[in-house]
Amino acid sequence: MHRFQMIAYFFKPVEVLNRETRSLCGPHHTFSTEACMYQDKGSLKLFKFSIAQKSIILRACELNLKLDNKNELDLMSLLTILEYPDSRLRTVARNVDRVTTSVSNFVEDLLETMYAAPGIGLAATQVNVHKRIIVIDVSAEHNEPLVFINPTIEVLGGMQTSEEGCLSVPGFFEQVERSEKISVKAWDKTGTRFELEAEGLLAVCIQHECDHLEGKLFVDYLSGLKRNRIRHRIQKRRRT
Ligand code: NI
Repeated sequence: MHRFQMIAYFFKPVEVLNRETRSLCGPHHTFSTEACMYQDKGSLKLFKFSIAQKSIILRACELNLKLDNKNELDLMSLLTILEYPDSRLRTVARNVDRVTTSVSNFVEDLLETMYAAPGIGLAATQVNVHKRIIVIDVSAEHNEPLVFINPTIEVLGGMQTSEEGCLSVPGFFEQVERSEKISVKAWDKTGTRFELEAEGLLAVCIQHECDHLEGKLFVDYLSGLKRNRIRHRIQKRRRT
């Protein structure tokens, strides 16, 4: 759980946000519902909100309230995403024994964090929880969440190359080659076993997120030169 304070907030039309986030985060990040920007410890973030939350925020804006302590809003449970080259991203995740209440709650937090980032996939490893859990939503409306607990992948064939990005490597997009068709076995959020065949973007995303559980990042597929350049730029950006 992460309670944040709203220091500043401003509302923009969805089309404007889409334009801005697409240049900032890449083509996969679009908003279909209302969103606002807020400032959290100096960095600007975006999040989508419900009608009920909007009325609370608008009222706070009207009254020029600073949402602190008493008025603090527990809007969503955002988890902190580790950024490359953080060594904790190299941890190999362990199997989940069974889906307890705490696992279910964590899955919800992971989904909220993925949607808020915004992203189309997130692995537990990326929020420093080293359990074999990934969440994905590649739907256009961002309303088809997929939860994979203890996923295992079987390659069915073919190769595809596509542009990948990662919430742990923000702002960088590179071409990566992956298997075209895969089959994945996992438990869903209730602990029920299921099997799914995937291709295209979903197959890429599942392979990318499962790599995280092995401590592997998409930059590992790039040349050492490209990888070093990305690492230097991220470290430089963090210093400034
Ligand atoms: Ni990633």
